[in-house]
Amino acid sequence: MNYTRQHQPILEVNSLHIEYPINSPGGFRRLTKPAVIDVSFKIFFGECFAIVGESGCGKSSIIEAILGFVRPKSGTILFEKQNLLNLSSKNLRKLRPKIQPVFQDYNQALNPRMRIGDILREALPNHLQDSQTDQLLASVGLSREILNYFPHQLSGGQKQRIVLARALSVKPALLLLDEPVTSQDLSVAVQIVELLISLREIKHLTFLLVSHNLSIVQLLADRVAVMKNGQFLEQQPLAQLLNNPRHIYTKNIIDQTITP
Ligand SMILES: Nc1ncnc2c1ncn2[C@@H]1O[C@H](COP(=O)(O)OP(=O)(O)O)[C@@H](O)[C@H]1O
Ligand SMILES: [Mg+2]
Repeated sequence: MNYTRQHQPILEVNSLHIEYPINSPGGFRRLTKPAVIDVSFKIFFGECFAIVGESGCGKSSIIEAILGFVRPKSGTILFEKQNLLNLSSKNLRKLRPKIQPVFQDYNQALNPRMRIGDILREALPNHLQDSQTDQLLASVGLSREILNYFPHQLSGGQKQRIVLARALSVKPALLLLDEPVTSQDLSVAVQIVELLISLREIKHLTFLLVSHNLSIVQLLADRVAVMKNGQFLEQQPLAQLLNNPRHIYTKNIIDQTITP
């Protein structure tokens, strides 16, 4: 299926640089360490763009910059042509719901003291709370009984579905999926991947997927960037990347990947 047909970027990242301060014992100079170096990419409406690379290469930093949690040293991040880095807080608030993260650590994402029903209702506008909760649950393949449960009573896969349902409650256009399935075993991971594939189609979503795991990436991605030490080594459509890696590092990742 050609998800790139619209050829309009929903997100455009240009020359992104991110640095973090390092604590230097007794040093006068403020030392920094680069985490993301000159990263540029576009994501087109409806596609899944993936960034693959080993832990610590800078993937989550890119997501955190898109969400405004981290202030880049330089670069631009355009969402629907507006630069998120110099938008007024009012306009940023308006855009906010359109970009929803789904983080790896669903245990931290769900308040352990709240019932699932309240977690979902809290995310919805008042007048939609009752009608939409059931619909949200159905869209992630869960049934109503779960509304009375607390997060610890759910399996990892069920928790991840709730995190997804909550992200969907505000009708996002772009999901930022940070290692969305690494915490589960393979059969659960495959179910979550299948759910993501169907949600993308049904809800016309665009995905930015970041993962260290090429097996997961290749199930979802239309185009893939390979990242190492803060830099993109290459980016290609998935099939081209797999058949014709330009970089030896990419080739090594492919060779290490067992096709699920
Ligand atoms: N808040 C932070 N403060 C200092 N260093 C950080 C911070 N977040 C990430 N880093 C460092 O930046 C680099 C990239 O991290 P990250 O973006 O989390 O990579 P990945 O998601 O690919 O594992 C790592 O060396 C990490 O230790
Ligand atoms: Mg990460």
